[in-house]
Amino acid sequence: MDSVLSLNDVTVAYHGDITILNNVNIQARRGSVTGIIGPNGAGKSTVLKTMFGFLPLRSGNIQLDGKDISREHANTRAKAGVAFVPQNRSLFGDLSVEDNLMLGCWPFRHDKALVQERITSVYDRFPILAQKRKDPVSSMSGGQQRFVEFGRALLIKPSVILLDEPTAMLAPKISKEIYRLIREFAEGGMTVVLVDQNVRRCAEVSDYLYILELGRNKAEGSHEEFEQGSGLRDMVASWMDYKID
Ligand SMILES: Nc1ncnc2c1ncn2[C@@H]1O[C@H](COP(=O)(O)OP(=O)(O)OP(=O)(O)O)[C@@H](O)[C@H]1O
Ligand SMILES: [Mg+2]
Repeated sequence: MDSVLSLNDVTVAYHGDITILNNVNIQARRGSVTGIIGPNGAGKSTVLKTMFGFLPLRSGNIQLDGKDISREHANTRAKAGVAFVPQNRSLFGDLSVEDNLMLGCWPFRHDKALVQERITSVYDRFPILAQKRKDPVSSMSGGQQRFVEFGRALLIKPSVILLDEPTAMLAPKISKEIYRLIREFAEGGMTVVLVDQNVRRCAEVSDYLYILELGRNKAEGSHEEFEQGSGLRDMVASWMDYKID
């Protein structure tokens, strides 16, 4: 098992004594998609925020490439190759596409040639962003804005990418494109952690799935285990009132 990023017995609270994550264990493996599913309020977004360093641990630890990063700040984790695309839109709507991308170059802003090179590589990957480079982000469709967020995350050439409901509120065609990109990231060697409300799509795209409930690990299993009608699949179906097509 080539675990790149792991949460080990992690307990987290936003404030006070009310813990949101309780002894959560998650391992994300290199070049694979690790899916996290669970009902509203299960703690999925909290897991990603914790992985990125936005929340301090009450107990447990986080390992990145075998190193304990539990106490590292988010900017240190970003420099170590962890990128995060949060659940709520995270762009500056009045700024242009290019200015939003420039902000993603902050960790290496002093190297102008590198900034240019990385932004060009994002434009190569998402030609629509090159076309709209001068336009305010708020003038773009929801799907195009997601591509700006993905592009901004890719600027640091991440080894790990944390994605929180990347297809929420998007049309099926654009969602399909995003799931294709996610597979492409993993096949290119990136470690992807995907939180998704769409159980069917998440199970399809993930190599391994974790199911959270009330801030605890409820179940887990491989893509094959889920797809081959195991108890895992039936459990998810009944428990989430989810119809398997
Ligand atoms: N900033 C915050 N302060 C206090 N409690 C919070 C905060 N953010 C989330 N919570 C609580 O933490 C719990 C887990 O929330 P979280 O957002 O991680 O769930 P989720 O699984 O991502 O849900 P959803 O599917 O709705 O996105 C919920 O009970 C929520 O009310
Ligand atoms: Mg969430």
